[in-house]
Amino acid sequence: MAGKDVARKSQPREPGPTIALATMGLIAAAVLGVWACVTLGEKLTASGQDVPGNPVVAVIDLAQGQIEWTTGATIVAVALVLIAGALLGGVAGALGRRQARKTRVDDVSQHLAGRADVKSLSAKSVTRANRSRGEATSVPGVYIGKEVSTGQDLWGGWEDLHLDLWGPRQGKTSSRIIPMIRRAPGICISTSCKRDVIEATMPFRQQVGRVWVLDPQDKALGLDTSRWYFDPLDFVRRDQWWDGNAEELAEIFNAATARGEAGSDPNAYFYSQAVDLLASLFLAAAMEGRPITDVYGWVSNLEDSTPVEILSGSQWGPQAADLASKYRAEPRTRSNVFSAAKNMISCLGRRQIVRWLTPQAGAERFDPVAFAGSTADTLYLVSDEENPIGRPVTSILTVAVFKALVDRADTCPGSRLPVPVTAALDEIANIVRWPRLPDYYSTFGSRGIICDTVLQSYAQGVEVWGEQGMKKLWSAASIVVIGPGHKDYRFLDELAHLIGTHTEQQRSVSHGGGDRGRSVSTQIVERQTLNAAELAALPFGRMIVLATGRRPILARMVRWDHQDLPPAPKNKETAA
Ligand SMILES: Nc1ncnc2c1ncn2[C@@H]1O[C@H](COP(=O)(O)OP(=O)(O)OP(=O)(O)O)[C@@H](O)[C@H]1O
Ligand SMILES: [Mg+2]
Repeated sequence: MAGKDVARKSQPREPGPTIALATMGLIAAAVLGVWACVTLGEKLTASGQDVPGNPVVAVIDLAQGQIEWTTGATIVAVALVLIAGALLGGVAGALGRRQARKTRVDDVSQHLAGRADVKSLSAKSVTRANRSRGEATSVPGVYIGKEVSTGQDLWGGWEDLHLDLWGPRQGKTSSRIIPMIRRAPGICISTSCKRDVIEATMPFRQQVGRVWVLDPQDKALGLDTSRWYFDPLDFVRRDQWWDGNAEELAEIFNAATARGEAGSDPNAYFYSQAVDLLASLFLAAAMEGRPITDVYGWVSNLEDSTPVEILSGSQWGPQAADLASKYRAEPRTRSNVFSAAKNMISCLGRRQIVRWLTPQAGAERFDPVAFAGSTADTLYLVSDEENPIGRPVTSILTVAVFKALVDRADTCPGSRLPVPVTAALDEIANIVRWPRLPDYYSTFGSRGIICDTVLQSYAQGVEVWGEQGMKKLWSAASIVVIGPGHKDYRFLDELAHLIGTHTEQQRSVSHGGGDRGRSVSTQIVERQTLNAAELAALPFGRMIVLATGRRPILARMVRWDHQDLPPAPKNKETAA
């Protein structure tokens, strides 16, 4: 037998007062109805009788035969019955449709965010807040969904960063990512594991700017045939601090190829040495303008000391000394460190990947700085979730583009980009491993770089950024959206505590023995508004929105094709 949602059932009320009120209402309606029939009937078919203006007196006169029920009264009665029937039918239909759309958690919204909190996320309020910061974009921001009890649309403004945690197949791409890209007012970055996002958005983005699709594993085959490549060593040369940039590039390779939770690797020592080794090798390759594939050749041949010779005598003295010491290390250590380095850059040995990193006939060179300076260009990064071979490439390009955007923002008035940049980071854990993303998250909003990081669970974030990193990301996101499909008790219990409690009136009935009859007592009890079990069973289409400074909101997701999306501008100039 299907269970009842006992926890959500409200306490039964005493039926007496309700029956008495309903009876009184019916009697009053009947008296008014009879009076209206006789009065209006007299106007239709005048019989010359004088109908009293007081409905009660009129009904008494009718009962005593002092006034008559005329044909006109019958016509009015039939018309009134038909009108009342149509009205009741309409109301019942609307209520029925509303009831059919309702899920078992919807009533909980009465204990969540109040009217003012919900209103503060309306398009009007968010637009007002944008304008007060000097933001002139016509789109209010990033659409979230509809609050369940009022149906009001909820928006995050152009300073809010989002974090979405939804289980698989719950609608995150179709209700959050696709609309975000379709409404992007300027530059847009999109990560995904499937072609669904590109299919639904690329024709629109092509009308507003240049589209670049990085697809090393041919997941979006045929959708974009333009040929291009980028040189990861441009990341090293992007400013005068080549040593730090080379180290960051090596860290990205390490993070993109790491297995298990961040920081949990038992071979961490060799890998940290390998990061230093790779940093020096990247620096050497960048100095000589060599392709990054040369670094793969160097770590494969321990006897080739070319990189040491390149760095010796250069301005990068400490790196040269460190590199030389690595080549001179005790053979076992040296072999372990070089093997770890080779593991990190193994993708550079794959033709499938190298074609994106080295000049090819007819392929255009992608410049992250030019992209960051564009009006409304789009970068799609697609990578296979099962096979992470392309992940270092997608990670490096993403980081290079974000850094270029930050650099550009820092040259703009107020360190804010003139038109907000939209980064729809769907399935990011499978595509981009950027250890420093949580640190950047708290500053992106003020620079006009608006991200939505989408993960399948909190644990997936911990795997990428470690416990501390994920906590940082969670705290820095001003809009956290939790969709259905979670089963991690610890996470759900913490979420239940964040959602909080409310008080309820509880009635208890006791039956005393002897001459003490039935006694009823009421008490106020505090209960968790949604407990972990209820959150684990959050129905499809519902989401909890935690927006900074507001009580939690229960919202309904809206698929992109049911949203009022703006049509694409006619030409590139109108996107500006
Ligand atoms: N509001 C909605 N009402 C009904 N169906 C919906 C709604 N939103 C999405 N769906 C359907 O749910 C399915 C999953 O949607 P979607 O691909 O967006 O989910 P996802 O969470 O991104 O999945 P994945 O984990 O595979 O990336 C699709 O078939 C989609 O059409
Ligand atoms: Mg998806």
